[in-house]
Amino acid sequence: MQLNVNARSYEVDIEPETPLLWVLREVIGLTGTKYGCGIAQCGACTVHLDGEPVRSCSLPLAAVAGRRIVTIEGLSSDSSHPVQKAWAALDVPQCGYCQSGQIMAAAALLSKKPRPTDGDIDEAMTNICRCGTYQRVRAAIHMAAGTGKGGGSVIHMAEMAGAETSAVAGNRSTEV
Ligand code: FES
Ligand code: FES
Repeated sequence: MQLNVNARSYEVDIEPETPLLWVLREVIGLTGTKYGCGIAQCGACTVHLDGEPVRSCSLPLAAVAGRRIVTIEGLSSDSSHPVQKAWAALDVPQCGYCQSGQIMAAAALLSKKPRPTDGDIDEAMTNICRCGTYQRVRAAIHMAAGTGKGGGSVIHMAEMAGAETSAVAGNRSTEV
């Protein structure tokens, strides 16, 4: 079976019902795409298939042969995609485990809706983050789109995310 991953062609001899995620990780060696739930719920395994975000843990190889697959490794060669830059500027990740899936989902959203509203973000970003980085994910998407408060300026948005983090930390210390 022929797979097109990150603009490279791979010939794989694998059972057609094998989930794409395992071929990406175990056969091709692209381990940036993560396994979370295995039942298409969490989004940790999100990749692009012909530009659409898909959950590779639940997608059999037979469904992707000959189609254009992009993983986090193929989003840019040097982390220069606007979503990756915004993620770094706002320090979005906490443990990081869900973040490649979050970034792939955000990149797919912005390719369709370059200036998304909060409602668009809520609808598209169904990925789960156990660390609760949702506020920073949203802020980073607005930054990448240039739709953040303050016109998406890196400094303003970073300050905003810092303020949110402090507020959360403050609430936690109050609760404890
Ligand atoms: S691992 Fe695929 S959606 Fe959770
Ligand atoms: S950053 Fe830890 S699960 Fe999302």
